[in-house]
This record gives sequence, C-alpha cells and structure tokens, in this order.
Amino acid sequence: MRVLVTGGSGFIGSNVVRVLKEQGVKVFILDDFSHANFKNIFDLDCEVIWADILDENIYKKIPKVDAVIHEAAVTDTTLKDDRKMLRVNYDGFKNILNLSVKKNIKLIYASSAGIYGNGSYPMKENQKAEPLNSYAYSKYLCDVETLSLIKKRKTAPVIGLRYFNVYGPGEYHKGIASSMIYHLYLQIRKNHRPRLFKYGKQKRDFVYVRDVAEATVKALNLDKTVILNVGSGEACSFNKIVTTINGVLNKNLKPVYFDNFCQEVYQNYTHADITLLKKVLRFKPFYNLERGIKDYIEKYLSPQKS
Ligand SMILES: NC(=O)c1ccc[n+]([C@@H]2O[C@H](COP(=O)([O-])OP(=O)(O)OC[C@H]3O[C@@H](n4cnc5c(N)ncnc54)[C@H](O)[C@@H]3O)[C@@H](O)[C@H]2O)c1
Repeated sequence: MRVLVTGGSGFIGSNVVRVLKEQGVKVFILDDFSHANFKNIFDLDCEVIWADILDENIYKKIPKVDAVIHEAAVTDTTLKDDRKMLRVNYDGFKNILNLSVKKNIKLIYASSAGIYGNGSYPMKENQKAEPLNSYAYSKYLCDVETLSLIKKRKTAPVIGLRYFNVYGPGEYHKGIASSMIYHLYLQIRKNHRPRLFKYGKQKRDFVYVRDVAEATVKALNLDKTVILNVGSGEACSFNKIVTTINGVLNKNLKPVYFDNFCQEVYQNYTHADITLLKKVLRFKPFYNLERGIKDYIEKYLSPQKS
C-alpha cells in the first residue's frame, strides 16, 4: 500500500507515519516545514515532498497513492490572522479533497474537537457546532464540506477525525501550541510550581498521540464517508495532570493559579463521546491519562530528549 501524509513531519503526522511504516506501508510526506521538525521523521524511510498544499502545481507531481492522510494545517489556535487560517486550513483541505475526488482515492483528514466549543458534553458527532475561534471555524468548514458529500455524489470515502487534546512525543516544535501536559512537565521538571488557570478544575479529554495515530491508520479500512471523534473518552482536570506528572517525577509541586486571559475563546471542558469510534472504527483507546503520561515521560522526555 502507498499513502500520502500531508503535514507528515509535524506532531501527529509523524506519529501516523511511524505507525504506517511499522505496517510496511510505502509513505510519501507532503510538508512545507512551516511548523514541523525534520527530526520527527529523520529515522523513517519515506519520500519527502517539500511543498505547500496551497500550491496547485504540486498536485500534478504527486506520485500514485492508494490513500491520503491529511494532517497539514495551521495549528496555532491563538493565531489572529483569520485569512491565513482559512487559506491553509480550508482552501488547503479543498485542494486535497479535490485530489481525492479526481483520483478516486480515500481521504482521511484531521478535524478537531474545537468545533464543539463550550457545547454540551460528552460531545457527540451530531451535536451543534459552536466554534470559538477561526481555527475551529476552519475545521468546521471542512466537516460541512465532507458531510455535503454524503448527499451530493458518490466519491471515495472521506473520513474526518475530530481529534481531542493530543499530547505525546514529537510535539516539541509547537511552542505555545504544544500540549498542556508538555508545558506542565517542563515546569515541574525544572522545580517550578506549575502554572494553571484558576482553579485548575477545567477538564479536557487528553488523548495520547499513539492512540490517535493508531486510530488514524485504522481509518484506512473504513469504506464510508463519516466523521468520528478521536478522544480517550475521559475528561481529566488540569489539577489531575499536575498530580500525575508530580507522581511520575516523584515531586510534590503545588500549582500557582492565575486568571485566564483568553476566557472568551477558551474551551473549559472537552469530553469525547467515543461510541461511534468504538462502533464504526472498532477502536478503543489503550492509554488513559496516567498510562499516557507515564509512557511519554519515561520513554521520551528524559532531559536529553526534550
Ligand atoms: N495536536 C492536537 O491536539 C490537535 C487537536 C485537534 C486537531 N488537530 C489537527 O491535527 C493535525 C496535525 O496537528 P499537529 O498537532 O500535528 O500540528 P503540527 O503543527 O505539528 O503539524 C502541522 C503540519 O502541517 C505542516 N503544514 C502547515 N501548513 C502547511 C502547508 N501550507 N503546506 C504543507 N504543509 C503544511 C506543518 O509544517 C506541520 O508539519 C492538524 O490538522 C490539526 O489541526 C490537532
């Protein structure tokens, strides 16, 4: 099998490539390296196409593949440039969708739990979208486009995966946009008291990147157009993350609480309903918060590696 992974040198993309390589798949990475780390893929045997998904000329040069996994996007949710957000995330998605329709190849793409905003929970795929920022809005537009395909015409399957709050190896280049778990780990490791928005009771569905990558690759087996949540199925408080990291590092640093300066665009609670993930994809996440954090710290975040 031959698969094109856009954004394959980024955080989730590179973990997806790793799982594909473990399964003996021939992988082509399409990435403009605007927000990536070549070290994420340096040890992996795959062909790299250094290009922008917005460049329409590139589509003539893409090798023959059986499926596309589309991870490339602007991922900094705090970016204020809405035009750039929509250009890359929505127009870029449409270019990739076009490729999939023209060549009749399956497309799996990264959507986001951001779509649900501060909606009701556990969050279900069919509930009303309430995007709080242009990032979430750009992902919402991609999902609308996908859902319209179900009614419009017969195409190869398009599978949208609404990832929740992903953490794990390979996210180090993301700076402010890297996971809260990584930021808190860095503070605690340096013996700084971890900084949390008041009073650490916000809850999110943190999902380990290994589960996300496995679910994404498994979606290659699906034969219908569908949108699925990809989360752990559990919402954990920020305070619980601190306790868990303290436990793994054998420390006991108490949080310092401060005002949330971005309250209006902030998701205080995310929690994936993973009924469809289990039923349609037949996928059950392996890592709960404790197991994921332990694996992440012990295997990847030794002082030399982070
Ligand atoms: N990390 C999360 O918690 C999370 C949650 C929900 C959804 N997602 C989605 O998952 C996908 C992967 O996110 P990530 O966390 O790995 O982020 P990332 O920033 O590490 O990866 C994005 C990749 O896309 C590439 N890219 C950006 N613009 C491009 C362009 N115009 N042309 C070609 N390549 C381009 C970057 O260089 C990078 O390699 C994104 O679509 C993101 O929106 C991530």
